[in-house]
Amino acid sequence: MALVSVAALLREAEREGYAVGAFNTNNMEIAQAIVEAAEAERSPVIMQASQGAITYAGLEYITSLAMVAASKAKVPVALHLDHGTSFAQVVQCIRSGFSSVMYDGSKLSLKENIAMTLKVLEIARPIGVSVEAELGKIGGTEDDITVDEREALFTDPDEAELFVRETGIDCLAIAIGTAHGQYKGEPKLDFERLKKIKALTKIPIVLHGSSGVPDEAVQEAIRLGIRKVNIDTNIRETFVWAMRQAMEKNPNEIDPRKILGPARKETIEIIRQKIRVFGSSGRIK
Ligand code: G3H
Ligand code: 13P
Ligand code: ZN
Repeated sequence: MALVSVAALLREAEREGYAVGAFNTNNMEIAQAIVEAAEAERSPVIMQASQGAITYAGLEYITSLAMVAASKAKVPVALHLDHGTSFAQVVQCIRSGFSSVMYDGSKLSLKENIAMTLKVLEIARPIGVSVEAELGKIGGTEDDITVDEREALFTDPDEAELFVRETGIDCLAIAIGTAHGQYKGEPKLDFERLKKIKALTKIPIVLHGSSGVPDEAVQEAIRLGIRKVNIDTNIRETFVWAMRQAMEKNPNEIDPRKILGPARKETIEIIRQKIRVFGSSGRIK
């Protein structure tokens, strides 16, 4: 199967009321785990690469891994650029074969964010590449800010409505209380805000920083219109924990496959669990 666009996957998710997991990859083992987990769950899946992943592995390697994985997969797989912040990188990813891109203009003014997102749409849409944008500032769990300061960065529902009307993007990432990385306490999601944003935009909404959000909260967010759930930190935690276990169990091991293999196996399990929580299990017959 060739790579499919995120928009196509989210259209189906919107119709049926579930969310598609978007899992970050940095290497071959994680890419394999993402697709193996999706196949085991008979679920569509989004593999995504961050700026950091592209710098680490190289654009060609990331694209090739996803293409090989998708060509063998019995479920639809999308390859998505996560938090693209430069127009040049968006172009490089599309040319390399990505089926979807995120243009993250959340640090820009609303006007500039709209203008840049339109520029990305102009080159992506004619060739069937879907576009995710971000409004509001999601930030990281390590950001040294108070709860009030974080709330001030949440997505404004009226701005979201204007943004979607002006751009016509495929899906929108919003700030409603999640953050990237490991949470110190339990994140509190602003469900009322999500409800308003969904009612005003009527498009698939994306939840970033989803690792560490309790399953029930993720499911409530899906009930209110989240259709793409981004997970990176849970994969990192699982992968590194499993590597550490393997090394501690056999400190003299010098074969990387004996360390990376168990890490891949555990990663499949955590991704399968997430897929079940998102409700996309069994959607591919
Ligand atoms: O959205 C953030 C992701 O966790 C990617 O982070 O740039 O360190 O790969 P990274
Ligand atoms: P976490 O690493 O917090 O799961 O966030 C992932 C993400 O939002 C990638 O864009
Ligand atoms: Zn993110």
